[in-house]
Amino acid sequence: MTTETTPCVLLVDDHPNTLHLMREALGKTGAVILTATSGMDALRLTLLNECALILLDVRMPGMDGYETARLLRGAERTRHTPILFVTGAAEDEEALLKGYEAGGVDFLRKPVAMDLLLAKVTAFLELHRRQREERRSHQLTLELERQQENAARLRELAVLLQNEREEERKRIAHELHDELGSRLARIRLDLRQEGSGVDRAWLTRILAQVDEVIGCVRGVAVSLRPPVLDQMGLYACLEWLAQSFSASGPLQVTLGDHSRNVAMEEPVKTALFRIAQEALTNAVRHGRASRVEFTLTRAARRIHLTIADDGAGWNGQAHQQTSGMGFRGMEERLRPLGGAIRLERSPIGGLQLVATVPEPESRP
Ligand SMILES: Nc1ncnc2c1ncn2[C@@H]1O[C@H](COP(=O)(O)OP(=O)(O)OP(=O)(O)O)[C@@H](O)[C@H]1O
Ligand SMILES: [Mg+2]
Repeated sequence: MTTETTPCVLLVDDHPNTLHLMREALGKTGAVILTATSGMDALRLTLLNECALILLDVRMPGMDGYETARLLRGAERTRHTPILFVTGAAEDEEALLKGYEAGGVDFLRKPVAMDLLLAKVTAFLELHRRQREERRSHQLTLELERQQENAARLRELAVLLQNEREEERKRIAHELHDELGSRLARIRLDLRQEGSGVDRAWLTRILAQVDEVIGCVRGVAVSLRPPVLDQMGLYACLEWLAQSFSASGPLQVTLGDHSRNVAMEEPVKTALFRIAQEALTNAVRHGRASRVEFTLTRAARRIHLTIADDGAGWNGQAHQQTSGMGFRGMEERLRPLGGAIRLERSPIGGLQLVATVPEPESRP
């Protein structure tokens, strides 16, 4: 078998001597030269090798050049391979016509002038090289287009998943709160009303346990989708987030007052809220921060949410290379909105994350 990159030329002639001379002359082309002494031999070789060009003697015993050419044209592998007929000096116009009909693209007369042979084969090999390059670049273009389509489809899918996840969280949070929460409240009420005949200490213990479960259910519902997110603007949501984080540990979270007036649509609000939530978790978990500052501004037709911490700061690794899902999730949330995140050194010592989203009229 020949290699994929080196072109291959097949010489077919029943005279081994002619084959030898032609082969010698074509040595300079750098192509792999294959030789066959009969039509059958030629067909067999084309099954094993991808030929760029076939030089075919017209007069051969048994299957002649025309017949061989017709069979080569009929085979998938050699359908488009150029065939050059090598004819005797006496061949007339009718014979040449027959050659063209059989699929030949050019002729050489015997005795073959070796410099002409070399020039023709070189020209055909150059044509073959260009065609192969065009095919390859066409294939690359197609492959690139396919990859771009796949990437676009994946991005759409990521957006759908993100939205569905948010909807699912909302649904479960409501169900927990409305269904389970109200049933538990009902049980609590029944226990208080109907439990006059039972042991008081037991009743107090059971009521405390029911209260605890009610608290848990509420907590899970809130962590799934804080009601404030469906009721208030981002400033209020961030205030709520700051309070709940500050209440659960030594972290002090502050909010710039000018952030109050930045209004936005629901998807932007949810995305920025979730980003702030993840950034706060990161600041505590990785930065061991004691202070976080939120700033929400509108400038140059973009909304900017800055989350600065005073923690350990960035370890210098490109954030796309970390195995965590936090930053990746942030980028996925912002991409469909035309937004992006940026990480930089925080003015208060640790890491600063800036999430920006263009205002609707500036989105692509
Ligand atoms: N505020 C921060 N201070 C210092 N390093 C941080 C901070 N935030 C993130 N990092 C670093 O960036 C990495 C990636 O964060 P990311 O939120 O993407 O993933 P994660 O927190 O490790 O995992 P996950 O968010 O999936 O639970 C972290 O592992 C940490 O090394
Ligand atoms: Mg994280």
